[in-house]
Amino acid sequence: MQIKKSRYKAHLFICNKSRTDGRKSCGHEVDPDLKTILKNEIRERGWKLFVRVSDCGCLGVCDAGPNIMIYPQKIWLSAVTRDDIPEILHILEEIMEA
Ligand code: FES
Repeated sequence: MQIKKSRYKAHLFICNKSRTDGRKSCGHEVDPDLKTILKNEIRERGWKLFVRVSDCGCLGVCDAGPNIMIYPQKIWLSAVTRDDIPEILHILEEIMEA
């Protein structure tokens, strides 16, 4: 095993878990363009080397989804829609300026 520190100042994890058993899951509700839009906005702001956006599995708060978590800041966002992108970018801006 190798242990390294992440080079990212913030890492967004977008839950894309899709259940097939009828239970609520983010993958069925998350905006399919959300990740691409966020990545493009991050790139345009010059944050690409410092902010990472990744898909992830279930975060355990399925009923509140679609969910995004931002680490290491421990910020959890729920019921996220495309309309929330400006606020997400504002959160990232504050992280970048900290
Ligand atoms: S399916 Fe997204 S938090 Fe469980």
